[in-house]
Amino acid sequence: MKKIASIILSLFLASSISLAAQSDSLENAADLEKYREVNDFVDENESCFKCHAETKYVLVDEFFGTEFVNSLCPDKMVTRDEYYSMVHKSFACLDCHAYDYEEFPHPLSARLEEPYQCIDCHGYDENYAHFQFEDIEMEYMESVHAEQVENFSCWKCHDPHSYQLTVRDDGATIKEAIAYNNDICLSCHSDFSRFELLTDREEIDILDTHDWLPNQAAHFGSVRCIECHTSLSDSTLVAHHVQPSELAVKKCSECHSKNSILMASLYKHEAKESRRKYGFINGVILNEAYVIGANRNTTLSFIGILLFLLTMGGISIHIVARIIFKK
Ligand code: HEC
Ligand code: HEC
Ligand code: HEC
Ligand code: HEC
Ligand code: HEC
Ligand code: HEC
Ligand code: HEC
Repeated sequence: MKKIASIILSLFLASSISLAAQSDSLENAADLEKYREVNDFVDENESCFKCHAETKYVLVDEFFGTEFVNSLCPDKMVTRDEYYSMVHKSFACLDCHAYDYEEFPHPLSARLEEPYQCIDCHGYDENYAHFQFEDIEMEYMESVHAEQVENFSCWKCHDPHSYQLTVRDDGATIKEAIAYNNDICLSCHSDFSRFELLTDREEIDILDTHDWLPNQAAHFGSVRCIECHTSLSDSTLVAHHVQPSELAVKKCSECHSKNSILMASLYKHEAKESRRKYGFINGVILNEAYVIGANRNTTLSFIGILLFLLTMGGISIHIVARIIFKK
């Protein structure tokens, strides 16, 4: 009897609650005009952004006139600026999400709907052939993530609401592309709250597991994680076959040599572009790749090696001195 009463009461309450979420973060209407230039569904999307772009939302019980202020979890937030500048900026939320999301609280049916995968829309489409989605899909299927983590998908790395292309973006420098790339991996590998949603494994401390690498900050700022963690790919511009860590590159000479693997990965696009513009030799010398000793200027390489040996010597002396003077 009590149960029935409470069901009736909850039905009654549900029908009298309305949504009065405010849009604090929307500075002015001019922003909306700017978004209309790239998207035809700006007003429809506002019905989601009014909650999902805010840190809090308000529910009003019209019958009793009471208001409930709730916080929106940060991982459920979507920012307008990022959304309207990503690769799918022209999309309505409901192009990817079930229409049931128009209801609040969102029903279970909406949550259970399988999301589209990249390949559903981009596979075997000649407009996107240059991205080689089919090859990427095959590489990904063999990666540790696809093989070991049950709920992994392309979306875990390509954030559905902010994914951008940096490797092909003429405006982005190599450093910016590297930072963007590594942030993708670090979004889990340095954020345990995201990592633990997918696995029962203990936290992996990236700084600890890479302590054999001198000057980590310089390395992580100059090479991508995928340089060492994927097998080199002939066909795709961005290798997607992330391998078990035993197979990762640990030999310094893989990069610090004339035949650096970086020429076939990180600088692949750069090298192609600058070669087209300036011819091979100049292209290779002029592009940023000279830091790794892949240039044809032996004096520079010699100075590079000398500096490298001096640095390593300095470090060794430092270590020996620390051991000797420890007590
Ligand atoms: C009244 C505020 C509000 C509105 C309007 C709203 N949402 Fe939500 N949404 C939430 C809250 C709060 C959550 C997190 C709690 C939950 O999962 O119910 C959420 C969760 C979600 C989730 C994650 C569900 C899951 O299982 O993790 C998706 C996807 C979503 N909303 C999409 C939408 C879309 C699309 C729209 C517009 C059609 C929309 N929402 C409108 C408040 C809102
Ligand atoms: C290109 C397709 C696409 C579009 C457009 C899109 N979403 Fe999503 N969204 C997804 C996918 C896929 C997921 C699940 C991601 C995952 O598995 O990690 C998701 C997840 C979410 C979540 C849950 C996030 C979480 O980590 O729990 C929310 C909230 C959400 N979307 C809201 C929105 C809103 C609001 C819009 C419109 C402004 C929107 N989405 C537009 C594809 C999209
Ligand atoms: C629901 C269908 C759909 C899904 C799912 C989808 N895309 Fe797209 N994608 C599109 C459409 C349509 C465009 C063109 C958008 C435009 O021009 O505004 C596009 C554009 C792109 C572009 C930009 C192409 C260019 O030339 O600028 C890239 C890159 C891309 N998608 C990658 C992905 C990746 C990676 C995934 C999965 C994580 C994915 N897409 C999932 C439909 C989809
Ligand atoms: C472990 C992380 C990860 C996963 C999983 C992943 N990607 Fe990527 N992907 C990346 C990174 C990093 C880039 C480089 C982004 C940049 O700098 O533009 C990239 C780039 C791309 C590009 C652009 C390549 C180009 O030539 O410009 C496409 C297309 C793409 N991924 C599709 C996919 C598809 C399809 C899947 C799933 C089958 C997938 N990705 C899964 C990390 C991932
Ligand atoms: C210079 C090459 C190199 C770079 C760059 C690199 N790694 Fe590694 N990584 C390795 C090697 C080698 C191992 C295996 C270490 C060992 O077993 O001693 C490893 C181990 C790992 C492991 C597994 C640790 C474990 O305990 O199972 C993860 C996760 C990882 N790296 C993530 C990353 C991420 C994320 C980045 C980018 C921020 C990155 N790595 C950059 C070479 C590299
Ligand atoms: C969405 C979260 C997420 C992202 C993004 C992500 N990873 Fe992982 N990664 C995981 C999880 C979870 C595991 C643990 C898998 C398991 O249970 O063994 C893992 C495992 C690994 C391992 C260790 C495999 C082993 O030998 O044990 C490496 C190496 C790795 N990831 C590299 C990368 C690189 C490189 C990127 C970026 C291109 C990346 N990850 C992006 C979640 C992520
Ligand atoms: C994946 C490629 C790669 C691997 C593997 C690699 N390096 Fe590097 N390393 C680089 C790049 C690129 C730079 C340029 C950094 C910069 O911008 O100064 C660099 C810079 C350096 C520097 C100078 C850092 C500074 O303080 O400016 C030293 C020293 C160095 N590497 C030593 C090593 C040693 C020792 C190993 C093996 C344990 C190693 N590297 C493995 C790519 C690599």
